[in-house]
Amino acid sequence: MTGPCDTAWLDGRYLPLAEARISPLDRGFLFADAVYEVLPVYGGRVFLLEPHLARLERSLAALRIASPHDAGQWRRLIGGLVTHNGGGDLLVYLQVSRGAEAGRSHVPQGSTPTVFAFASRTPPPPTAPPPGIAAITAADTRWARCDIKSTALLANILLKWQAEEAGAAEALLLRDGHLTEGSSSSVHVVTGGVLHSPPLTPEVLPGTTRELLLELARRCGFESRVCTIPEAQLRGAEEIIVASAGGGMRAATVLDGQPVGVGVLGPVFLRIFATLVGSRAEFSTEVEP
Ligand SMILES: Cc1ncc(COP(=O)(O)O)c(C=O)c1O
Repeated sequence: MTGPCDTAWLDGRYLPLAEARISPLDRGFLFADAVYEVLPVYGGRVFLLEPHLARLERSLAALRIASPHDAGQWRRLIGGLVTHNGGGDLLVYLQVSRGAEAGRSHVPQGSTPTVFAFASRTPPPPTAPPPGIAAITAADTRWARCDIKSTALLANILLKWQAEEAGAAEALLLRDGHLTEGSSSSVHVVTGGVLHSPPLTPEVLPGTTRELLLELARRCGFESRVCTIPEAQLRGAEEIIVASAGGGMRAATVLDGQPVGVGVLGPVFLRIFATLVGSRAEFSTEVEP
């Protein structure tokens, strides 16, 4: 984990992160009444900007929070944050809560959203395939609206922690006998050379990297299917691909201590990864402050 950069954004202005203050009555703090986005920035350009902003709008609408900024304002906010922090390779976090009220009431009484944004340094995107990761399976203990990118991440935190304690990098989640996603990633399975992805239901976050993966698979000429993935299919997979904006695309080569397929980076992952490297610029957007 890298520390955050010095300059943040809070409610309409850039300021030193060390000076940023939010009310203890903010509903984000009291109720996790808030949503967020994580946008990778490579060489000062935002990767998959539009899908992230679209998902932010979707999450805000699901919580019935009026969007505090239009797309142009979000772009300028992000652009300014990147510039103030010296550009380069960053992860930009946009956090929006419903804001602070005079008291504490489950039902919102009307408040102005709090907008907090900050950035962290991240390594440059890999040009060679990263090594495989180990994963564990775990019961999906999260709520029934995992399609909202909510800051209510306690279950995700406990699941990731469980993975780390087992010497693994990710927990792949099972609900009612099928795969949903990872604790902080979307998960895809190769069976019979075909890429399988769980459908977009309220059980999973509509991942920006998931959409990219499906597009890259199409460009590679791989067949892909969006369908329910039973636990047995996950356990018998030839390859497992784990994808997220912050972590990129990784192959899980070990699952619950057993090799996935033959236990090395598989041909579908390697082709898709090579296509990703060749097309990153196409999915990146310059943002002006
Ligand atoms: C629970 C969960 N699912 C899926 C994803 C992947 O989404 P994206 O590819 O947009 O980062 C994330 C990313 O953080 C996540 O936390």
